[in-house]
Amino acid sequence: MAPIVLGFLLLAFSTPTLTQKKIVCYFSSWAVYRTGNGHFDTSFVDPKLCTHLIYAFISAYPNGSVKILDPSNDIKKNGYSKFNNLRLSNPTLKTMVSIGGWISGSKIFSDICNNSTLRAKFVTNLYNFLVQHKFNGLDLDWEYPVLNGGIAADKTNYVSLIKELRAKFAPAGLILSAAVSASVSATSTSYDVPALSANLDFINLMIYDFHGFWDGKTGHNSPLYGASSHNLYADAAVKNWIKLGANKTKLVLGIPLYGRSFTLSNIADTQMGAATSGAGTAGSWSQEAGLLMYSEASVLLSHGTICTSQKSESDWNVVWDATQAVPYAHRNNQWVGYENVISIGIKGQYARDQGLGGVMVWAIDMDDFRDLCGDGKYPLLTNLKTNFTARERPTKY
Ligand SMILES: *[C@@H]1O[C@H](CO)[C@@H](O)[C@H](O)[C@H]1NC(C)=O
Ligand SMILES: *[C@@H]1O[C@H](CO)[C@@H](O)[C@H](O)[C@H]1NC(C)=O
Ligand SMILES: *[C@@H]1O[C@H](CO)[C@@H](O)[C@H](O)[C@H]1NC(C)=O
Ligand SMILES: *[C@@H]1O[C@H](CO)[C@@H](O)[C@H](O)[C@H]1NC(C)=O
Repeated sequence: MAPIVLGFLLLAFSTPTLTQKKIVCYFSSWAVYRTGNGHFDTSFVDPKLCTHLIYAFISAYPNGSVKILDPSNDIKKNGYSKFNNLRLSNPTLKTMVSIGGWISGSKIFSDICNNSTLRAKFVTNLYNFLVQHKFNGLDLDWEYPVLNGGIAADKTNYVSLIKELRAKFAPAGLILSAAVSASVSATSTSYDVPALSANLDFINLMIYDFHGFWDGKTGHNSPLYGASSHNLYADAAVKNWIKLGANKTKLVLGIPLYGRSFTLSNIADTQMGAATSGAGTAGSWSQEAGLLMYSEASVLLSHGTICTSQKSESDWNVVWDATQAVPYAHRNNQWVGYENVISIGIKGQYARDQGLGGVMVWAIDMDDFRDLCGDGKYPLLTNLKTNFTARERPTKY
């Protein structure tokens, strides 16, 4: 009797609101190949910052087998096992693996899921993969059912896949989540929202890449509130998912730890919506035109609110867009819309005020994890967590 009473008391005195709130962090496993201060591997992860860590990515073969994308890093150099061993430093941490991503495309999953025999094999193979490599769960990142080379039947086939995975996973205590398109038009096309909400443990809303160089004009990667006529902002995405039948405790607000950059057509026109001629110059570590990781942006801009300890000669101009609750910066013909500690704190408060189940970041390896700016390690993730999990509404912003 005594142990039961003690257990009950411990439960009663624990802080469920705090422990149930999810801080979901993706890890882009290829970050190990970034050079210099951009290099990131699992030894840089603070195992207490996130409640769920997700290893990106695995993929699939047409026969429904799991495809390991980087056998050298994932297996030979113990990428998976080092990642899952982070749980030794935090027993409540859950480590998961994500299947898909933009590179895998849609067709491979569309083909597998349109054949019930193949789909059943896929489910068994995924289950065996998680058990073999000791992951706590799976994150589905099919981008996207019906779209990008998929077929109309994907919408129902995706639900079948999710229900079959859940039936296999739940008895074993394995977690099942999905990363989903948050755009209002794609959501209705790709997803049976009530079925996803009922059968997934949580839903990661990918609220990023809402604007980028492909638009031909400046716009923010992840506005909180909107000016956009296409409802491409976080508040519209969240309210749309709730309206379509999602349980808000299952919804996780996805936030980019990177900015989207542009080359301006005319250096005299730097406002939101200004004409652009293409992507911004690639960052020195991520090496991708049109994208700057926070670690790159913060060092580049090292100015004012972005990188407080390195107030410098930087001639970047930082502008706060009050309508969208996000910053952007420009210098000569370069323009970047990104997150700083202020905007991410506001997003954390928003998720808290809306009663969402969690917040998510893409990706942990893009924050200032080395404390190059002197704001402490992981300034964005830390401020997001502080604001999201606060008992009292912080009054800082
Ligand atoms: C599935 O396809 C992959 C890639 O072609 C192959 O290596 C694997 O052996 C196949 N699995 C089965 C069970 O046939
Ligand atoms: C999906 O599967 C159904 C039933 O087997 C089949 O009739 C249909 O042609 C398939 N669709 C595609 C695009 O392969
Ligand atoms: C479905 O997949 C199974 C197993 O790979 C295969 O034998 C069968 O021919 C497929 N069915 C169709 C309609 O393609
Ligand atoms: C939403 O989910 C929570 C926790 O999973 C549950 O307690 C609640 O009953 C659900 N609400 C609805 C309306 O289904």
